[in-house]
Amino acid sequence: MITKIALVGFGTVGKGLYEILKEKEVRFKEKYGFTYKIVAIADRSFGNVYNPNGLNMDRMMMDASMGNRFTEDLVEWDNITLIKECNADLVCELTYTDLKDGGPAIDHCKAALSSGKHVVTSNKGPAALFYPGLKKLADAHGVKFMIEGTVVAGTPVINLASGPLAGCEVTKIRGILNGTTNFILSEMEKGKRYKEVLKLAQKLGYAEADPSGDVNGIDARGKVTILANIVMGAGMKIDDVDCKGIAEITLEDVLEASAENKRYKLIGTVERVNGKVIGKVAPEKIALDNPLASINGVTNALTFSTDLLGDITIIGPGAGKEETGFSILTDILAIHRNMCCC
Ligand SMILES: NC(=O)c1ccc[n+]([C@@H]2O[C@H](COP(=O)([O-])OP(=O)(O)OC[C@H]3O[C@@H](n4cnc5c(N)ncnc54)[C@H](OP(=O)(O)O)[C@@H]3O)[C@@H](O)[C@H]2O)c1
Repeated sequence: MITKIALVGFGTVGKGLYEILKEKEVRFKEKYGFTYKIVAIADRSFGNVYNPNGLNMDRMMMDASMGNRFTEDLVEWDNITLIKECNADLVCELTYTDLKDGGPAIDHCKAALSSGKHVVTSNKGPAALFYPGLKKLADAHGVKFMIEGTVVAGTPVINLASGPLAGCEVTKIRGILNGTTNFILSEMEKGKRYKEVLKLAQKLGYAEADPSGDVNGIDARGKVTILANIVMGAGMKIDDVDCKGIAEITLEDVLEASAENKRYKLIGTVERVNGKVIGKVAPEKIALDNPLASINGVTNALTFSTDLLGDITIIGPGAGKEETGFSILTDILAIHRNMCCC
């Protein structure tokens, strides 16, 4: 069975996903019996295209890499019409994250799920703000709403909890959920001031021109909400998560921690306390023998505290074209396995 895919948003992650699919096409067919066609793309910059028999993706990639609008299979349909009318089995929602109201992504997800199409996304907006409703909608239509890429990109976190750790009770999750702030804190330990390092992070492409979503902890707060609701079954709203970023951490604070054999990290925590799940994001001084203290630069890490295995720490990339493209792929392959079983 050929999996027909629609991409909504054809930026870094969308292109990253396609590059992996293309590179590993033969291997995926041999190993998993997985074959695919990309039948539709909706993108604000490049236009909306549809071909029920499969788009000429080399052409689409060429147009996009030259910054041009697509030159083949253009349709007049808006995103919602395209999502509903196309013959895709699966929609990848890869537009921008909006943690205030979910942005256009929420309507994209609803349109796909309600027309019986699986949704795979790395967009934190729908997952952090509307997961329970979207999961219910998916269940009602017999499809999946998969979100591995919303937390720590392709490093398996969501699927780790629901798969290999499924028999354990997870009592606490603590970790470094934002690479930008971890890079800044790591560089400050070398004696550099916050503003200087922020400029460097922007130059290297680790921080956006408006870095507030990262440095104020808002990005990490979205991920904490997702973990609380999906891994620990809390009915948490994003505003329920106490949130403090790193903008007030000075070089003196960092050096003082260093002298105490400690290290500042922006830590996201989800914990069950007296039967209630609590979420928090705050800078914390971590002892150097804690596995999270050794995570430097843009790398992310999470420690799951469990009843049967004690602490499990997973370390890996939290962003990147290939890394996040992989997160979408892993969910697509999981859906493929499911489709094969039905
Ligand atoms: N990149 C990563 O490392 C990473 C890691 C984890 C999660 N994520 C999440 O994954 C998602 C995609 O990230 P990305 O890095 O690929 O972003 P990106 O490079 O900015 O690409 C997003 C694409 O979606 C298009 N778009 C925006 N609004 C749209 C709309 N209403 N309809 C159709 N297309 C629209 C954008 O067009 P314009 O250029 O015209 O805006 C752009 O081409 C985001 O939600 C992001 O937070 C990314």
